[in-house]
Amino acid sequence: MLMKANSAAVGDCTAVIGTQWGDEGKGKIIDMLAAEYDVIARACGGANAGHTIVVAEKKHVFRLLPSGCLHEHAQIVLGSGMVIHLPTLIEEIDLLRQAGIDIVPRLKISHEAHILFDFHKLLDAANEDHRAKTGKGIGTTRRGIGPAYCDKAARIGIRMERISENLAEDLSARKDTLQRAYGITIDVDAECRCIEESAKIVASSVTDTVAFLSAMRSSRKHILIEGAQATLLDIDHGTYPYVTSSSTTVAGALQGLGLPPQCIGEVIGVAKAYCTRVGAGDFLTEVQGETGERLRERGGEYGSVTKRPRRCGWLFLPDLQRSAMINGCTCLNITKLDVLDTEEVIRIGVGESQGKAVYKDFAGWMCSTAGVASYERLPKNAQVLIECIEMETGVPIRYIGTGQGRGEMIIR
Ligand code: IMP
Repeated sequence: MLMKANSAAVGDCTAVIGTQWGDEGKGKIIDMLAAEYDVIARACGGANAGHTIVVAEKKHVFRLLPSGCLHEHAQIVLGSGMVIHLPTLIEEIDLLRQAGIDIVPRLKISHEAHILFDFHKLLDAANEDHRAKTGKGIGTTRRGIGPAYCDKAARIGIRMERISENLAEDLSARKDTLQRAYGITIDVDAECRCIEESAKIVASSVTDTVAFLSAMRSSRKHILIEGAQATLLDIDHGTYPYVTSSSTTVAGALQGLGLPPQCIGEVIGVAKAYCTRVGAGDFLTEVQGETGERLRERGGEYGSVTKRPRRCGWLFLPDLQRSAMINGCTCLNITKLDVLDTEEVIRIGVGESQGKAVYKDFAGWMCSTAGVASYERLPKNAQVLIECIEMETGVPIRYIGTGQGRGEMIIR
């Protein structure tokens, strides 16, 4: 069937995109918005992402399913740009099932997404160990992301459309090379068994998600694009080589979902009121010592996938401006403002000189903003900070996070 291009209203999709190095707290705004959207779609990346979801009063870290998946009215899409580790996906589906949620009937997995095998994880670890020996470790999540995208680019990847096939021959063909080059053994039988078992659960969900999303738009359904990782980790626009292997921008999300550019209405850029990074790479405004520790503890800054302590520091405006430019952010969500409640002086990086950050200092507010739900009730000094970020980026700050709870968000 020939799909009618541009049949839906222009600008009917909203994208939520991280503007820093990930972990900006995108899940909360997504949770807030999800109720109003018919489809929640993830475009790129794999089980390197991690968001905490509360299922049956217990916290779980989900890696593949978007954080909006608990909204039972919503169709969930895993797009063509993703690399999918099936055992992880099955684990997440099982967890939801135990809580009485059967996500499979509303799950659409792109037949073009790539399968990430266990051997990709072994390869990621081998590459990372080798780089670490020469002091050039990236600090990947070791989830096999780089090697899976390598296979995709080398055109030897295996896509979801083949989930019901016997893949033994394809996997065996890789076995000798990987054994010789990396000392890695592919357990062909185990990989095949795992695919076979997974197929029993998700084969019916594998479909042409491009056609699905287009049909959704044609029938005036609303799509929420849940960005994974963040702009400074983008393979092209991030702090290469200390980046992930996918395109994490809004353009990457459109590519990963096969959506046309004019479908985008809102692009919500999410930024912490300070900044964190996991893994290696430059971080001009990183703060060591007591202040860094305080930000880490107050912000609970430990990797949700790897549990690594996150490096902490101050917001760097030039990066935020660049992210807003690349993504065409129509508004910003500043998260975790309350983490700064105990800082006497709050610094914002505004430029760079001789390899060091140049700061503008702001007086802190030294009182609790936790749970404040209206802008007027924010301390004056917090308003000054917010308005400076807004003025410097030229992007309105529409949402301000003031705590973990659902209602703890100022909407302006
Ligand atoms: P990879 O994506 O596992 O290859 O890791 C490459 C870099 O991206 C490492 O520095 C990771 O810590 C970082 N990274 C990947 N995914 C995330 C994420 O969801 N949040 C924060 N950092 C991430």
